[in-house]
Amino acid sequence: MIVSPSLLSADFGRLNEEIEMLNASEADWIHVDVMDGVFVPNISFGFPVMSTLKQKSYKPLDVHLMIVDPDRYVKRFKEAGADILNVHYEACTHLHRTIQSIKAEHMKAAVTLNPHTPVSVLEDIIGDLDMVLLMSVNPGYGGQKFIEHTYEKVSRLKELVEKSGSDCLIEIDGGVNAQNAVLLKNAGADAVVAGSSIFGAADPKAVIQEMKSI
Ligand code: DX5
Ligand code: ZN
Repeated sequence: MIVSPSLLSADFGRLNEEIEMLNASEADWIHVDVMDGVFVPNISFGFPVMSTLKQKSYKPLDVHLMIVDPDRYVKRFKEAGADILNVHYEACTHLHRTIQSIKAEHMKAAVTLNPHTPVSVLEDIIGDLDMVLLMSVNPGYGGQKFIEHTYEKVSRLKELVEKSGSDCLIEIDGGVNAQNAVLLKNAGADAVVAGSSIFGAADPKAVIQEMKSI
């Protein structure tokens, strides 16, 4: 399992130590949640925090944009150090164009779906994607309860990916812990994002290791 700890649940007063912990852990990526207070009812952090993170971290940055019209900022996120750029299907009017511009900046292109958005909307673009990120909570906050319907969605998305013959990865975000990650893997997930279950644990590195071994 690819493991992408979400920085949103880190202790920002000890950000240096948290990044060092992630560097020393088995985490594959670092998940960076960017919120604009418009697409989601919360505001997180932006370019200065990301640039600092990029300087201090050895891991690729898996950036999740919860912002309207992400097209406006594709280049800026590349400059700030994004390796994977996730844009919401619900926030892009011309999704195909947005995906092409992410690839033109040499980042991995990923599309995120809200819990209510069916995977079938991706039928005609799946072959262009490096990853699909399925939300298993409504985006905006860490620490929410996992929506059980997600398993069924992962299976349907896995079928779509296999049918298309693409090597698109499937990542899940929201309420993930070491227990439901096993079921997500069985349903077809390749990667999980986890915030509170990692940073809220007494031994975050051990939780990362447990998820990695799934
Ligand atoms: C929610 C964010 C998630 C969040 C996950 O809007 O996209 O990445 O940080 O946090 P947990 O794992 O606590 O649900
Ligand atoms: Zn996220």
